[in-house]
Amino acid sequence: MTDRLTSGLATDEDLQFEEGLRPSRLSEFIGQEKVREKLGLYIEAAKERGEALDHVLFYGPPGLGKTTLAYIIASEMEVDLQITSGPILERPGDLAGHLTNLRPGDVLFVDEVHRLSHVVEEYLYPAMEDFKIDIMLDKGPSARSVRISLEQFTLVGATTRAGMITRPMRERFGIVERLDFYSPDELTKVVKRSSRILGIPVTADGALEIAKRSRRTPRVANRLLRRVRDFAQVKGDGTINKELADRALHLEDVDILGLDEMDKRILDTLIRKFGGRPVGLNTIAVAVGEEADTIEEVYEPFLIMEGLLERTPRGRIATELAKKHILGEVTPKKDDEELLLFS
Ligand SMILES: Nc1ncnc2c1ncn2[C@@H]1O[C@H](COP(=O)(O)OP(=O)(O)O)[C@@H](O)[C@H]1O
Ligand SMILES: [Mg+2]
Repeated sequence: MTDRLTSGLATDEDLQFEEGLRPSRLSEFIGQEKVREKLGLYIEAAKERGEALDHVLFYGPPGLGKTTLAYIIASEMEVDLQITSGPILERPGDLAGHLTNLRPGDVLFVDEVHRLSHVVEEYLYPAMEDFKIDIMLDKGPSARSVRISLEQFTLVGATTRAGMITRPMRERFGIVERLDFYSPDELTKVVKRSSRILGIPVTADGALEIAKRSRRTPRVANRLLRRVRDFAQVKGDGTINKELADRALHLEDVDILGLDEMDKRILDTLIRKFGGRPVGLNTIAVAVGEEADTIEEVYEPFLIMEGLLERTPRGRIATELAKKHILGEVTPKKDDEELLLFS
């Protein structure tokens, strides 16, 4: 299905493959020049001082490399990495378990950090700030807490929903970096790198074709590469060229812009349901059955960057390009006059 193929959200299959495809050094990480340069600098400085790196927050749409950068920080700092996530940490005790296991300089990666519960988040504050936590001893009437010291560690947080991070939480990160969508050129490099690792022969124009249809997202590029490989193996001689990539992706219903199911639903709502008028975010959210915040932070940035959607003071509108793209793809029904107006 299209939504699984082009959505930046990770599937189980992605997770299996991603282990092997993840760059482990900053120098192997493609694109995001500024972020890379700054991180390289901060890491070098921290290592020179023999200190832990400042806490780091990465935000941006799914599949752009947040988790990868957490791994890279740990390997560049030559420390261990512990991985957890907001929803997994139910109670302060869960967090204390991780924190007390950290050795000097270690990295604790908290994915989906916007989904930490209130209590856990507050428990994290003194840990981040003073490297101290309170531990409860005993239960019931004899319960008391003691304050213990932790090793200096680095918290790396990741979120797709920067707007949902509370202010006190955000202020405790010394380094806050946004990850941007990748250019086709950068994604071509991602495809080439992955095909080298997986041993898939791909021509330059074949890699570019996959790159152009990957929703500007490395995770999607890697996923499409795997699908096209299957096709190349069965229908071709195993080598991925432009023509073969195009046929494979056409078969998979990945359109030339690589829009995913939700992207299309949003544009379709603006164009057909509301006839091109400006529409408020919440109205769109109800119409497509997705949270307004998610639309704003996960889907819209891509649509805006591709010139398919605009935010205006009166609401969101689909651009002419979007109309051409969406309406050009479907055959208008005969009795649907309104549709023809746009084509
Ligand atoms: N800059 C990059 N260079 C090379 N591969 C990348 C890059 N960013 C992401 N990837 C690939 O995309 C996949 C998804 O990245 P990930 O870090 O899990 O994204 P996020 O955590 O932001 O959702 C990884 O397996 C990695 O192989
Ligand atoms: Mg991730």
